[in-house]
Amino acid sequence: VNVKRVYRTGFHFQLERNWINDPNGPIYYNGFYHLFYQYNPEGAVWGNIAWGHSVSKDLINWKKLEPAIFPSKIFDKYGCWSGSATVLPGNKPIILYTGVVDENITEVQNYAVPADYSDPYLRKWIKPDNNPLIVADESMNTTAFRDPTTAWLGLDGLWKILVGSRRKHRGIVYLYRSRDFMNWVKAKHPLHSSANTGNWECPDFFPVSLHATNGLDTSLMERNNIKHVLKVSLDGTRYDYYTLGTYFPQLERYIPDKNMVDGLRGLRYDYGNFYASKSFFDPIKKRRIMWAWANESDTTLDDVEKGWAGIQTIPRSILIDPNGRQLLQWPIEELETLRRKKVELHKKKLKKGEHVEVKGIAAAQADVEVTFSFHSLDKAEKYDFSWDELDTQKLCSQKGSTVQGGVGPFGLLTLASQDLKEYTPVFFRIFKANSKHIVLMCSDASSSSLREELYKPSFAGFVDVDLTDKKLSLRSLIDHSVVESFGAGGKTCITSRVYPTLAIYENAHLHAFNNGTETIIIEKLDAWSMNSPQMN
Ligand code: FRU
Repeated sequence: VNVKRVYRTGFHFQLERNWINDPNGPIYYNGFYHLFYQYNPEGAVWGNIAWGHSVSKDLINWKKLEPAIFPSKIFDKYGCWSGSATVLPGNKPIILYTGVVDENITEVQNYAVPADYSDPYLRKWIKPDNNPLIVADESMNTTAFRDPTTAWLGLDGLWKILVGSRRKHRGIVYLYRSRDFMNWVKAKHPLHSSANTGNWECPDFFPVSLHATNGLDTSLMERNNIKHVLKVSLDGTRYDYYTLGTYFPQLERYIPDKNMVDGLRGLRYDYGNFYASKSFFDPIKKRRIMWAWANESDTTLDDVEKGWAGIQTIPRSILIDPNGRQLLQWPIEELETLRRKKVELHKKKLKKGEHVEVKGIAAAQADVEVTFSFHSLDKAEKYDFSWDELDTQKLCSQKGSTVQGGVGPFGLLTLASQDLKEYTPVFFRIFKANSKHIVLMCSDASSSSLREELYKPSFAGFVDVDLTDKKLSLRSLIDHSVVESFGAGGKTCITSRVYPTLAIYENAHLHAFNNGTETIIIEKLDAWSMNSPQMN
C-alpha cells in the first residue's frame, strides 16, 4: 500500500504535510472559526513547535493560513507551546501561550495580539515586548508550568486563568488573577490539585448549564444553576480526564462532586486515542465545542514516509447528561452536511453468531448510526467483581468481539476486509452484577491490521446507561485511519487509529454482528458515505 495516501482521512482535520498535536486557542471571530494547533513547520515528527493556524466558516471545511506564532523571541525561542484564546470586551481576541525559553525547558506564559483587528483571518499576530506575563516563582516547577486556559471574568471584575503544573507527583492547576490582563497575581492556593496524578497538561475549566441545552460562555463561571467541568490531560496515561463539580469563587476553590474521582480511575472524555482537548464557546450557535488531538498509532518511520502526523477529532458539542453524573458528547451538526449516499436497515434480527453486511456505501469513509434492541437481559454474563481491579482494556482484550457471550458482544465491524483478516470491531457486552447491569463498550484495534509493528490497543470504557427500554445506540465515524465512536448518545466515546492493509478504499466493508446467545435486533441502522470537505 502507498502509506503516503491511504491513511489520509477524508473529513477529519489534518494537514497536507508535517506534524500537528494539541488544538490551541479555538475562537469565533468576525465570521470565522479559528483553530490553532501545535505544529512543526519542518517535519512529520514533534519539534520546532509553532502555532499552526486554520480558519473555517462551518468547522468542517478548513483553510490553512501561515503559522500565527512561532519561536522568535527570548521568551519563546525554544517553542510556542499550548495555550488558549480569550475574546476580550470590544471583540478583541488575545492569545495566552506557553513559551519555552531555554534548553532546560523553562516555561513561561506569554501573550500575543492580532496585528490588524479588521482582518477577519487574523493572519498576523504580535508578541509584545512586555512578555513574558507570568513566570514561575521559587516554590514552583519551572519545567511543568504550562498550557494556560481561556480566561473568565469574575464578578469581582478580575480576569482569571489556570496554568497546569505538578509538585512531585501531585497534579496542580494554579489560579492567576488580573485586572488588566497584563499583571497577573497567583492566588494563595491552587484552584485544585490531586495526589499521584502527575503533571496536569492542557487544563480546561468551564461552566455547563444544569437545565438548559445551550452551552455557556466561559465568563458565566460565577452564576447559578450551573456546574463546572475541570479537565486535565495526564501525560502518564495519555488520556483526558474530567470531573464535574462546584466552583467557589470567593474561596477560589473547585470541589469535585461526591462520586467523582480525580485522575486515573475517573471519567474520561474518550477512552481511546484522544488527548490535550480544548473547548470554546461558540457565540453563533450558543454551544460549547470541544476537540482533541488523535495521535498516530503507526511508527515514526511511517510518519516520516507519510510526511504528516496527527489529526484532530471531529468537533463535539458537549452538554451535561440529564442524570447529572457525566457529560454527553455529540459530533457537531455541521458534520451531517457531508452525508451523501444512504443505506438503511430496519428490524433486522441477528441471532447468535450472525453478521449482516451493510452494502452500498463507501465503508472506508462513512457515518453510521444504529440502535440495537434485545428482548431480555436474562442471559447477561455474570460480572466478576475482581474485574474492578483489572484495567478495562484488559477486559476488552480478553473478552473480544469473537468471544461468545450472553447479551453481546454485538455491534459494528468497521474497516473489515473481505475475508475478515482485518477488522476493527466497536461493540457492547452487557453483564449482570447483583441487581444491576454493567455495559462495557470496546473499540478493539487488535485485529485492525496485518501489520505487527503498530500500536493496536483494545480500548474500552463502561457505559452508565439505563437499559429499561432494552435498547443501546452506537454511532461510528469511519474515516480510513480513524474510527470515532459514540455509545448511548455520547455517554461513552472511543477513538481508535488503525492502519489496515486490505480493508482500504473500496475493499473496506462494514458489518453489524452479534456473538451473544441472546438475539439482537437492529431496530434501525442508517449509514452514509461521507463527502470530503476542503481540508487545509
Ligand atoms: C500536550 C503537550 C502540552 C505542551 C505541548 C507541547 O500534548 O505536551 O503540555 O504545551 O504538548 O507541544
